[in-house]
Amino acid sequence: MDRLVIHGGVPLGGEIKMDGAKNAALPALTAGLLADREPLILHNVPSVVDIRTLCKLLEHMGAELQMEGGAIRVLSRDLKRLEAPYDLVRTMRASVLVLGPLLARYGYAKVSFPGGCAIGARPVNLHLDGFRAMGATIDLTGGYIEARAPKLKGADILLEFATVTGTENLMMAATLADGHTVIENAAREPEVQDLADLLNAMGARIQGAGTTRLQIQGVSCLMGTSHAIIPDRIETATYAVAAAITGGDIQLRGVRQEHIGGVLEALGAAGVEVTPGHENRLRVACRGPLRSVDITTAPYPGFPTDVQAQFMALMCLAQGTCRIREKVFENRFMHVAELRRMGADIRCRGPVAHVRGVAALQGAPVMATDLRASASLVLAGLAARGVTQVNRIYHLDRGYSCIEEKLAGVGALIHRERM
Ligand code: EPZ
Repeated sequence: MDRLVIHGGVPLGGEIKMDGAKNAALPALTAGLLADREPLILHNVPSVVDIRTLCKLLEHMGAELQMEGGAIRVLSRDLKRLEAPYDLVRTMRASVLVLGPLLARYGYAKVSFPGGCAIGARPVNLHLDGFRAMGATIDLTGGYIEARAPKLKGADILLEFATVTGTENLMMAATLADGHTVIENAAREPEVQDLADLLNAMGARIQGAGTTRLQIQGVSCLMGTSHAIIPDRIETATYAVAAAITGGDIQLRGVRQEHIGGVLEALGAAGVEVTPGHENRLRVACRGPLRSVDITTAPYPGFPTDVQAQFMALMCLAQGTCRIREKVFENRFMHVAELRRMGADIRCRGPVAHVRGVAALQGAPVMATDLRASASLVLAGLAARGVTQVNRIYHLDRGYSCIEEKLAGVGALIHRERM
């Protein structure tokens, strides 16, 4: 298992180009299963492990994939298997996103029941309830979800929680259903909007993307198209925190700042200078002391849960005390114990972490547990005095491509040790 070794204390400076968003590329790839006999070509797809895992799954099902540079061409003419096996789904629960397309186009899907992960139980009950509302029968046997529907019917669906992949799964299913579907309390994340744009370019009839009320008029088939994935807002937020936590000054390139409003607001309140530039650039600099800022995570456009761990690392070095409330997942404080090993002063009470800023963090060997917790430990290591080893960085590789190269490119003393 690889680890990252970081000699902290270097203020970062220079420019980093953002990749395409992992969480937009994953549903976009499964949308390729909906195209009738024509290829879907996706540009700006990030080269991360989760994308490679999903490509393996699509090929296992019989789709033809070609990678050309940062583009992926998906052709799903005649699928051989309408199933997602356990050994692939267990490594990446977003595989559940094949359910909607398979049900819609083939009337059948067998997907290993996605287990929980470090951050929570991660149920998919809202996905399944939505498919049932559209006329599917769902059997749960032997750890698999088996879904059948000769022809999905449009339905009115009210989501108890604005689930991101739940909204995406149901929206994809509804594109080929008979009739009209309304999804109330739909997720509004930019990745959901990007998927709706893609599906409409394929011939779907979706209205309301980006609002809590989606309306989808079913059509008979969808065509191939070419589509560029939006930039990764979580990667952008992560490198913005890297600039702030090291007292650096970085230009981020290929940014959609309207996608990270909540984060920019919090960084500004913490005393970080955030300056939009020309051609989708964003300059992030921090010269003065950091101020403690309370945050509560929420579905978009609230403060993203996927940036909570990174922001907590920053608050460990702020002047004062803040409360960080995690309201989306039930167990997303796995980074706290590791940050404490580096000298952070954090006390958790249920979903709230009380962070009292300290003068400095100390480098230490730490353990990554999930994707964003790993990023948090890298950020803390960049600012800490001494050497930090972040172990089990396979978590990190799932969602960040070339993180050590990008950070070294702006002056960080960081390298990967292959164990
Ligand atoms: C997506 O996960 C993202 N993953 C997550 O990013 C992100 O943290 C999350 O949305 C929230 O923004 C992808 O897009 C691939 P949810 P998802 O369904 O869709 C509950 C990362 O770091 N819920 O919005 O699985 C659930 O338990 C990853 O890139 C149900 O109860 O998240 C959770 O508490 C981590 N029943 C809340 O909703 C359901 O059927 C949010 O889950 C579905 C969800």
